[in-house]
Amino acid sequence: MVDLVAFGIAAALTGMFVVLHFANGTEWEANPDISQEILEKRAAAVPETSFPEPMNRSIGGGGGAVAIEGGAETGEDGELEEAEPEEQSPAEMPEDEIEYHEIELAKQGETIEVASNETILDKAEDEGFDLPYACRQGQCVSCAGHIEDGPAEDHVIHYEQETFTDEEMEEGYTLTCVAYPIADFTLETGEAP
Ligand code: FES
Repeated sequence: MVDLVAFGIAAALTGMFVVLHFANGTEWEANPDISQEILEKRAAAVPETSFPEPMNRSIGGGGGAVAIEGGAETGEDGELEEAEPEEQSPAEMPEDEIEYHEIELAKQGETIEVASNETILDKAEDEGFDLPYACRQGQCVSCAGHIEDGPAEDHVIHYEQETFTDEEMEEGYTLTCVAYPIADFTLETGEAP
């Protein structure tokens, strides 16, 4: 009987102790989440690469699309883009494409035959005419002439002329040092706008 009373008292005291203990709190705290910190340290330790990180190594769980570097050489569809071909000089046209045109030099009263792969100035000089020129590169107006039946671009191809405006060429002005004929025409040499 005494044992039962002692057991009951002990049990009551134990229960009270437990209730009081949890009422005050255990003062236990969960460890702070350091997973993000670890991920960042790992990312800093991995050298930079030019290809996308695999999903399982990307910070924050990943899943987002990663742009591929070097896009300048690839198009939107991923295919290589070709560079614009440079304009080819008529002087380099294949021999079987060369045509010959009659150019009447109005002031000289003579007609010369000029191939489509040579300039009017070069051919006129070959034929013994002393025409004006300076740079021979389409950058001044020394060699300028006027095509009576203009526009100039209907009669010649200018290769790298940098002097005349579209309007001036529309009026028939040409630079004989860089003009390759594509038709017969009459030319007044020594004429500038
Ligand atoms: S010589 Fe200069 S543009 Fe022809």
